[in-house]
Formats: sequence, C-alpha cells, structure tokens
Amino acid sequence: MLTEVKPVDMAEEERLDFAPLDEALDEYEGNPGAAIPALQKAQEIYGYLPAEVLQHIGHRLNVPLSEIYGVATFYSQFYLTRRGRHTVRVCDGTACHVRGAPKIITALERDLDVVAGETTPDYRVTLEIVYCLGSCGLSPVAVIDEQVVGRLVPEKALEIVRGLE
Ligand code: FES
Repeated sequence: MLTEVKPVDMAEEERLDFAPLDEALDEYEGNPGAAIPALQKAQEIYGYLPAEVLQHIGHRLNVPLSEIYGVATFYSQFYLTRRGRHTVRVCDGTACHVRGAPKIITALERDLDVVAGETTPDYRVTLEIVYCLGSCGLSPVAVIDEQVVGRLVPEKALEIVRGLE
C-alpha cells in the first residue's frame, strides 16, 4: 500500500534529511526489483534525485549504485538536478513552430536569463521545450505547471511567467 509522502523543503544549503526517505523505503528494503518505485518516492520527497539519495536507495535495496544510476538516467521521468518550483514547457512541434513558438521561447529565455532546458538560479522556473502536446489546434501552446495555455504570444507568456511566485 502506498503511503502519503510530504515534499521536503530543499533550501540549497540544507543538508538532506533521509528520515522521510527511510520511512518510504521500508517497504522496499532489500528488494532489488523496486528501484523504480523507490526512485519515484524519493523524487516525490526531494523534487529530484541528488547523488546521495541514489546512493542511499542502492544501499537500502541492496543494488549497486551503478544500476540505480542506470535506471535513474534511463527514464525521462527522473531528474538528477534540482528543478524550479514551476515548470514551463513550451511546445515547438511543427504546428506550434510555424505559429510562432520560437519567438515565445526566445522571449522567455531572455527574460529568465536561461537557455531552454535550464532552471533559473533562484529555482523559480525550469524552462523546457517539448514537441507536440497534442493540442495543435490551440497552437502555439505551453504547459505552465499543470495548466495548458493556448494561442500564446510572447507578451502573454512573459506576463504569466513573471507572475509565478
Ligand atoms: S505541435 Fe504544439 S501542440 Fe502539437
């Protein structure tokens, strides 16, 4: 049975608190086949998978670190670097591209002072490019956190993203 886990507040200088992870890993103790659920749990807690966490999971599941690392890097759902509090995914698939996605991406990159794929230094926003969100009729489209925003223009994108806490 899955237990509810609370995300840990990850101030940059804060040392990792393994207590919530240990609690979540109890059910996977010594089970080498549980790498994926263990990593999912850890990511739920910390927001990403720092090296110490991978090491800790390997130890608890009795799996070599190289294997844990292999799983964490194979699946795109896992993040090895710290993410922003908000995720902005701008679509640059064909329909969105021809309707102006590159201008939106450039405007956001300039405003946030990052290159797509990066996170702002204050961990406010992670900017990503995706290729077709299945909403081509609304192009150009972005997903800001969980919200789909269609018929986007650079000014609107900047306004929304600047308003994110
Ligand atoms: S190309 Fe952007 S939603 Fe399909």
